[in-house]
Amino acid sequence: MSPSAGGLVVFLLSVQVIQSQDGWRVNYRRTDVCAAKGSRVKISCDYTYPPGIDPSDIKDRFWFTKEKDGEPVNLRTDAEYSGRVKHTCYSDSKSCYLTITDVRESDSAEYKFTFMTNQPGEKYTGSPGVTLSVTGFQVQVRRLNSTWLELMCHSSCVLPDHPEYDWYKNEKYIKTGSSLLVSSGSADRYSCYLRGSCGQRSPAVYGPQRPSVSVSPSAEMLEGDSLTLTCSADANPAANYTWYKQDGTSDPRLLSEEPQLVFSSIQSSDSGNYFCTAENQLGRKTSDFISIDVKYGPQRPSVSVSPSAEMLEGDSVNLTCSTDANPAASYTWYKEHEDSPRASGQIFTITDFTAEHSGNYYCEAQNEMGRSYSTLLLITSSGKWSTTTTTTVFASISAVFLLIIIILAVLCLYIRSHWTTRKTRRKRRKEVKEEQEEEKKKMAPSTCIHFDGGSE
Ligand SMILES: *[C@@H]1O[C@H](CO)[C@@H](O)[C@H](O)[C@H]1NC(C)=O
Ligand SMILES: *[C@@H]1O[C@H](CO)[C@@H](O)[C@H](O)[C@H]1NC(C)=O
Ligand SMILES: *[C@@H]1O[C@H](CO)[C@@H](O)[C@H](O)[C@H]1NC(C)=O
Repeated sequence: MSPSAGGLVVFLLSVQVIQSQDGWRVNYRRTDVCAAKGSRVKISCDYTYPPGIDPSDIKDRFWFTKEKDGEPVNLRTDAEYSGRVKHTCYSDSKSCYLTITDVRESDSAEYKFTFMTNQPGEKYTGSPGVTLSVTGFQVQVRRLNSTWLELMCHSSCVLPDHPEYDWYKNEKYIKTGSSLLVSSGSADRYSCYLRGSCGQRSPAVYGPQRPSVSVSPSAEMLEGDSLTLTCSADANPAANYTWYKQDGTSDPRLLSEEPQLVFSSIQSSDSGNYFCTAENQLGRKTSDFISIDVKYGPQRPSVSVSPSAEMLEGDSVNLTCSTDANPAASYTWYKEHEDSPRASGQIFTITDFTAEHSGNYYCEAQNEMGRSYSTLLLITSSGKWSTTTTTTVFASISAVFLLIIIILAVLCLYIRSHWTTRKTRRKRRKEVKEEQEEEKKKMAPSTCIHFDGGSE
C-alpha cells in the first residue's frame, strides 16, 4: 500500500452533536477533527427543517468560519481556501460535506454549517461547529544507550490506536514501523510519515556535521586585540556548542558553552589550539583545531653571565640575552658608547678576557612588533660583574640627553626662527624629531653634536 492510498485522515471522532431548535437542526458527525498538515480533510453534517418548509424553499446552504457584519461568509468565497475546498450537498438525504485539500496550519478553526430559506430571517446555523486542528509530525529522539537511539513519530493530535509510520533515511523509504532504531553520531537525515495519512512527512532530524569555525576579524592578531571565534554546524534539532582549549597533551579545557568564544583583549597566554563541538540528541562532532597565535613585541630582556664566577684574564665568557616575544626576537649586543654592535645573536662570547673588556654592556631584542633594551651589565677591569638592578640609571641617562636635545633644539629653532621661513622651520622640526628618535635608539652620549651645525 502506498502512503497516499488512504487518501483521507480524520484522527479523532467524538460523539456526534446535534444542534436543534423548533424543528431546525444541524447534526455534525464529528466535532473535533485532527488532520496532518498537507492532508485532505472531510467534514460533514445532516440538517433538518420544520415540516412546513418545502425543499425548494431552501435558498442557500454553506460552510463558514468567519462572519462579516454579523453575516456568515461562504468559505468558497474566501481567498485563503481558493482552489482547496469542495462543497457537496445531497438534498434528498439533507446532508452536506466540506472537503479541504492540502490543509494548512492556518486552516485550524471552527467550521459551521448554515442554511436559509427564501423567507427573510428564516435561517439556521449549527453552533458550536466542527473544530479542525491541523498538525505536523515531529521525530522525537530517545537515547537507549551510548550507541543506539530510538526515533518516534509524534504529533499533537490524538491518533488511532497503534499508528504505523513509514520511515525515511535521506529521503528514501527504509521501513514501516512504530519506531526506528538508529546508531548515534551519524549525519543521516530521518523523517517519518503517518501511514495512510496523505499528509506531509515530518521535518528531517539529523546529527551535526563537523562544525566549521570562523575567526573574526582575522587569524592575525596582536596582544590587546579583540577576537571572536564562532562555531557552527547544521543540525536538526539545532546543536548546542562547546568551546575547548587544548594545551599540550593534557585534557582539553572547557571554556564556553556558547557558539561564540569572545576575547575582548587577547593576551599572549591565549595563544594555543582551540576547538569546538556541536551536539544534539543525535550525536556530537568536533571541529578541526584552530591555532591562535598572539603576536607581541619583546619584553625587557634579561642578561646573564656564564660561567657566573669572577672573570679571570684569558677566560672565555658567555653573555646571554633572553626575553619573551612572538615571533621570537633577534638579539644584538652593544657596549655602551659604541655605535656598532659587538655581536648579533643571543650569546655574546668574550674569548680571552682582558681588562680592556671592562665596561657597560647591554643587549637589544627585536622582532616585527618592536624592540626592547636590557639593563646594563657592568664588567669591571678586575673581572667582577653586576647588572643594574633597576632601569633608572639607563632611563635617567637617556632622559638627561633628551632634555639637552630638546633645549638645544628649542634654542636653535628660536634663533633660526628670526631668519627662516615657516616652511623651512617646519621641515627642520621634522628632522629634529627624526634625529631625536635616532639618538634615542643609539643612546650615545654625544647626541647633541649634530645640532650645532644647523646651517644650510
Ligand atoms: C544498546 O541498545 C540496543 C537496543 O536495546 C541493544 O541491542 C544493544 O545491545 C545495546 N548496546 C549496548 C552497548 O548496550
Ligand atoms: C547539548 O545537547 C546534548 C544533547 O541534546 C545534551 O545532552 C547536553 O546537555 C547539551 N549541553 C548543553 C550545555 O546544553
Ligand atoms: C658559550 O656558548 C657556546 C654556544 O652555546 C657554548 O658552546 C659554550 O660552551 C659556552 N661557554 C661557556 C663558557 O658557557
